[in-house]
Amino acid sequence: MSGPPDFDAYYRADPDPWDVGGSFFEQRKRAVVLASLRQARYTSAWDPACGTGHLTADVAARCDRVLASDASPTAARLAAEHCAGLPVEVGHRALPLPPADDGFAPALVVLSEVFYYLADEVRAATVAVVDQRAAPDAEVVAVHWDGAPSDAWLSGRGGQTELVTQLVARGWTRRVHHEDDGFLLDVVTRGAA
Ligand SMILES: C[S@@+](CC[C@H](N)C(=O)[O-])C[C@H]1O[C@@H](n2cnc3c(N)ncnc32)[C@H](O)[C@@H]1O
Repeated sequence: MSGPPDFDAYYRADPDPWDVGGSFFEQRKRAVVLASLRQARYTSAWDPACGTGHLTADVAARCDRVLASDASPTAARLAAEHCAGLPVEVGHRALPLPPADDGFAPALVVLSEVFYYLADEVRAATVAVVDQRAAPDAEVVAVHWDGAPSDAWLSGRGGQTELVTQLVARGWTRRVHHEDDGFLLDVVTRGAA
């Protein structure tokens, strides 16, 4: 990899480049994500690579407030359309985001199909920002395809393992590890079990 893919070009060519809305694999994966969340409701959630916003919308049904963003302005627009009427604010921003200066401390952080698209330094900074921003009792749900996208920096398994390891090193605890038919899911909460 010489640099990050042009995700906006993907969305300009196809408004759902991974068929997130249509494929049963993606629909079922979202259902497993929702079933894996440890609380019935969350005061706030952060989805910093929301794509088309399908998972964002499903998560929003369990949240009072969701902040979502994406590096692609086209994806951010599509997500805003998809989440219309829900308590979701969508922006165009790329990870790593700066440390919080707005008081937003999400109770739930969603990292879905994005970690392997981040370069080494961006992944490290993203973990640091999640750790810095998230609420004292926060929960991170991470889900990735158990493959190696040709346009990614590392495999889903490699990224998922790195993310969990880095959070555990910062005092978080893995609560759920799920290996499914084609994807991996972990739920990690801040603090000891
Ligand atoms: C495979 S899509 C997943 C979208 C969504 N999370 C989902 O699961 O449906 C990957 C998304 O990550 C976004 N992305 C890639 N690098 C990013 C970055 N540095 N910051 C924010 N979003 C990024 C892309 O624009 C794309 O929308």
